[in-house]
Amino acid sequence: MTTTDAAPTIGPADALLFELLATPEGRADPYPRYARLREHWPVHKLVVDPPGSTGGTWVLTRFDHCQAVLRHPGFGKDFAAMQRRWGLSEEELAAQQAFSSDRPSMLFRDPPDHTRLRGLVSKAFTPRTVEALRPHIVRLCDELLDPIGGEVDIMAALAFPLPVTVIGEMLGVPPADRPQFQRLVRTSAAALEPFVSAELLTAANEATLEMEEYFRHLVAERRKALGDDLLSQLILAEDDGDQLSELELLSTAILLFAAGFETTTNLIGNGLLALLRHPDQLDRLRADPGLLASGVDELLRYDSPVQVNGRIAGDDVEIDGQRFPGGSTVLVLQGAANRDPRRFSDPDRLEVGRSEGASMSFGSGIHFCLGAALARVEGQVVFGRLLQRFSGIDLLDDTPRYRDSITLRGLAELPVRLS
Ligand code: HEM
Repeated sequence: MTTTDAAPTIGPADALLFELLATPEGRADPYPRYARLREHWPVHKLVVDPPGSTGGTWVLTRFDHCQAVLRHPGFGKDFAAMQRRWGLSEEELAAQQAFSSDRPSMLFRDPPDHTRLRGLVSKAFTPRTVEALRPHIVRLCDELLDPIGGEVDIMAALAFPLPVTVIGEMLGVPPADRPQFQRLVRTSAAALEPFVSAELLTAANEATLEMEEYFRHLVAERRKALGDDLLSQLILAEDDGDQLSELELLSTAILLFAAGFETTTNLIGNGLLALLRHPDQLDRLRADPGLLASGVDELLRYDSPVQVNGRIAGDDVEIDGQRFPGGSTVLVLQGAANRDPRRFSDPDRLEVGRSEGASMSFGSGIHFCLGAALARVEGQVVFGRLLQRFSGIDLLDDTPRYRDSITLRGLAELPVRLS
């Protein structure tokens, strides 16, 4: 018997990628896998595609290729295409696409919508505005550190509460309402994973609806007495009619709140773990607070809170001699780009004084992280205060567990002893 439908041959790069993107083991330890891909298959087209794909799914791991894609106007955020998922039926896919396209935030839009949505809030996040917040962030950090000492989970005691308080205050989310968002944001973030089951997507959508409902009520409350917070600014923009629709307002509030704490939480956790595993670098930072700015950038490079980014090719695009047909999905592995030896010398070494320019952790191009300045200040404050206040910080678990996701990389707990 002959057949024309030969099963696709899974090569070593596909097997590596499957492990990396879809198994707990691969997600827990991505760096050796990134290194093999970057050296042997830096521009790899997956042998299988999610349903409805055109152009194929490509995975990039070298810094210059990743940057070129993120900066190229030919690549965008075609919403429906970005929502294609492995393991979903056609109906599940259509339902997911309809759900997501009704919820437009700047993160998932191309110009001109992206430009308009980002422009409405960008002033609140300029380096100058954020720098003015630094003394207040120091106070908030000290308030969290005052009661703790001895054995403590840094994720619960500091890494989550500090960023959620900072962005909660900026946005105007009352303190008592903030903790519930940790679970909701984590559940909804499953929708950012390259591989996700229908069950997890359903839970992610439910979490999004719950957050939407919450902000709908908060907006109604705030309308009665506008304040000087970001939510009030967004309400004024919505009232202006042609600037912001209601769903855009709600999506923007959710995006700012979620992006404002989840990634920074992981900068604090991943960063502290890296320092504790490199005591010489921790000592340098303690001895010379002038290194805090480069140190935080290095911690971001070394173990980035955002490992995976993605774009869709509009028409055919060529990068470094490689043609990406229109409709191609390109996964940009930022965590791999950050360890590219063509870009950073001795990239697997943590070096808090490194001055080799920006890593890929905040992305690149028009979607470059809006909160980068805020995240940097929060990181500098946290590591500065921790090292100043505690002469001893000891890891209580040598191999703390990373949560099972690849797009957002963060620890479940980080137990330490502070003295
Ligand atoms: C260490 C912490 C952070 C990391 C690693 C990080 C990373 C990123 C990355 C990689 C992107 C680009 C996504 C893309 O290209 O599609 C991004 C976008 C964004 N980030 Fe952050 N982020 C952090 C903290 C923050 C904070 C504190 C905020 C505050 C609200 C924030 C708000 C945003 C927003 C609104 C966008 C969308 C920008 C756009 O689409 O134009 N981020 N972030």
